Amino acid sequence: MAVTILYPYKSFVSFHISSFKNHSSNVYATIVSHDGRAITIDGHRRVLLSGSIHYPRSTPEMWPDLIKKGKEGGLDAIETYVFWNAHEPTRRQYDFSRKLDLIRFLKTIQDEGLYGVLRIGPYACAEWNYGGFPVWLHNMPGMVFRTTNKAFMDEMQNFTTMIVDMVKKENLFASQGGPIILAQIENEYGNVMGPYGESGKEYIKWCANMAQSLDVGVPWIMCQQNDAPQPMLNTCNGFYCDNFVPNNPNTPKMWTENWTGWFKQWGGKNPHRTTEDVAFSVARFFQRGGTFNNYYMYHGGTNFDRTAGGPYITTSYDYDAPLDEYGNLSQPKYGHLKQLHDVLHSIEKTLTYGNISTIDFGNSASATIYKTEEGSSCFFGNGNENSDATISFQGESYVVPAWSVTILPDCKNEAYNTAKITTQTSMMVKKPNEAEDTPSTLKWSWRPENMDNFLLKGKGESTQTQLFDQKVVTNDQSDYLWYMTTVKFKKRDPLLGKTMSLRVNSTAHVLHAFVNGKNIGNQHAENGKFNYVFEKDVKFKSGRNVIALLSITVGLANYGAFFESKPAGITGPIFITGINGDETIVKDLSAHKWSYKTGLNGFDNQLFRTESMSKWSVENVPFNRTMTWYKATFKSPLGNDPVVVDLMGLGKGTAWVNGNNIGRYWPAFISSENGCDAKCNYRGAYHAEKCLTNCGEPTQRWYHVPQGDNTLVLFEEMGGNPSLVSFQTTRVGSVCANVYEKKIIELSCDRKPISAIKFASFGNPNGNCGSFEKGTCESSKNTVDILTQECVGKEKCCIDVSTERFGAPDCSGAPRRLAVEAIC
Ligand code: GAL
Repeated sequence: MAVTILYPYKSFVSFHISSFKNHSSNVYATIVSHDGRAITIDGHRRVLLSGSIHYPRSTPEMWPDLIKKGKEGGLDAIETYVFWNAHEPTRRQYDFSRKLDLIRFLKTIQDEGLYGVLRIGPYACAEWNYGGFPVWLHNMPGMVFRTTNKAFMDEMQNFTTMIVDMVKKENLFASQGGPIILAQIENEYGNVMGPYGESGKEYIKWCANMAQSLDVGVPWIMCQQNDAPQPMLNTCNGFYCDNFVPNNPNTPKMWTENWTGWFKQWGGKNPHRTTEDVAFSVARFFQRGGTFNNYYMYHGGTNFDRTAGGPYITTSYDYDAPLDEYGNLSQPKYGHLKQLHDVLHSIEKTLTYGNISTIDFGNSASATIYKTEEGSSCFFGNGNENSDATISFQGESYVVPAWSVTILPDCKNEAYNTAKITTQTSMMVKKPNEAEDTPSTLKWSWRPENMDNFLLKGKGESTQTQLFDQKVVTNDQSDYLWYMTTVKFKKRDPLLGKTMSLRVNSTAHVLHAFVNGKNIGNQHAENGKFNYVFEKDVKFKSGRNVIALLSITVGLANYGAFFESKPAGITGPIFITGINGDETIVKDLSAHKWSYKTGLNGFDNQLFRTESMSKWSVENVPFNRTMTWYKATFKSPLGNDPVVVDLMGLGKGTAWVNGNNIGRYWPAFISSENGCDAKCNYRGAYHAEKCLTNCGEPTQRWYHVPQGDNTLVLFEEMGGNPSLVSFQTTRVGSVCANVYEKKIIELSCDRKPISAIKFASFGNPNGNCGSFEKGTCESSKNTVDILTQECVGKEKCCIDVSTERFGAPDCSGAPRRLAVEAIC
């Protein structure tokens, strides 16, 4: 048994404290500083729990509720990125309206009494389109991102300064009495900086100086930046950060991104990181001297419109976060972490001032003791994946389950163990729209996308004798770009009448190819391979032939060194090949005259707008027709439950509700059958391929409709059947608990009454929520009756799981459990 003293008590140095006078209230502002142990706010060292909520991934109407839930969940702070391309879609034209009202979002955080962490970047990554950079920036002459490139640095400084000025004007930095305690410059540059060489090192120094010069009065952070220049604080991102050591002894151990789950790509499965494992990672981080933990994401939300990054990030950005995509509590994750936050806050003083000592018991078991003159708090950790540990400590013996941490605020009594969940599990369900007079199916009208000019005439907006990257032509104003050319065959051309083939080297995420108005084939990138060869047989006619290729982007790359120059669209080469006798004739079309057209007619004509005057037909509504617009009216579902539209049956396209783009849809993209794990063991290190669900199902079937209203417009590219489309609400369908005796469980249907007890057993029941079964020992008392009396008709009930209440079945000495499933 070895005893190591990790951090001898020392007098901490505080530096770069600044104080401002807050002009509006005439009080001295909150002072934020830091030392090796913690962020210090107003003179108090703090244990900070924070959660990421990205404001444009929800709506202003949702913000107060999301932030309030964060506070009730035990958070001290809300973190957000600022997305440059959303705010400056065209150079020097800014948008801070509605979902982009950054100041309103920050004030909502302030109103709730929470702190804010502002990650300006302005590179974000975040599975956001192009990592948050505007595409016009890429199209400026001589541009290279994230290095010592003058044009880039000027633009980055311009945007960063503008954001800082806006925030300062509203007195939102803590130094001004506002909520923002930390600001971030760049993002994980350290992970990719190798290829940038010396310029990368210079760039990061420049970032630090530039940020410092903005004089925000709160510390700046740089995540994953081991060489972060002082006074930047380098912080950790990942699934586990307990091993992280900052580059300066005066930098507190901070975790900017604790990934609560993972993101999803078209063709991928639903990620799931277990509650036990998230809690384990947090408790272990605090066991080992951590002081700031931010959940990425606390609420993931939705990639509305064309904001999803990529390629291929889905519209849903649920992230398996503690609040689900729609803002519902995702239980037990939300509740189990809330309990952890409460325990950590209760020992804040000991954690941030105490002397730390560790006892290593071997086999990955350890105890960490935080000791002050007033008392001690302990963590017992067991990092072994397979075996429980029995720890003897001060004359008592404690069992710490495999892959878990126990917290004992007084070093005697277990207050929390990361693997023992007492919070209920909620099973969400989708309910049909119950609005009055809603017909069971929607009544559709339709119209075709008018493509004649492109398919038959090959006529676009500009011509070039070169194939261009899609970003260069579209400036990312649209997902769609037509590449068109004409090819002439003389009457006597030996290839005429023979089968020829069109071969396109493509980096189009999705490609539709037409020759003389006829669709010859479609292809999309699969299995993460975004460059492929499209090849189809074609019959050309004598005279003029029109080749029209529609290239569609599905989110621009957001990660990696020099990601801005990852190709998108049809960069070629493009060939026609034909065989004449023993001779293969190849025509290279790459330097032909290519005509370009950005976007589609229906988008230009704003067919998605409710007030659009265009003609729609209610006759012969087609199924499985490509490039088709559909429109239907619907009644908003009654009540306040979040609304979704089920797009099962459709192919791929875009959906609008009352003129608002709710995102790309692609239910026809089915994830592969293999790789799911229903059993999902929380023990052992999590990675993004672990505990997946939704195999063999549409990647995303339901789409969030945050503002219920009455017109749905769909643009369907690939062909689909809209007759199955329906509006539904999401809510808690049933709640379950499965806890040992001597615990208290709380069942709640999220502000709705509990309607029935479907299953209850006290003894050693088996299974999971939705599939519980009685075990080999069971109480003779009628457990269902007891719970029915206690809970049915109530919005919430608390039950003491005791033998007095439920009897004392003989389970051969094994601890007894109560499993219950209640219907909401
Ligand atoms: C990090 C990045 C975040 C997000 C995350 C994965 O590397 O900083 O912005 O992309 O990965 O969700």
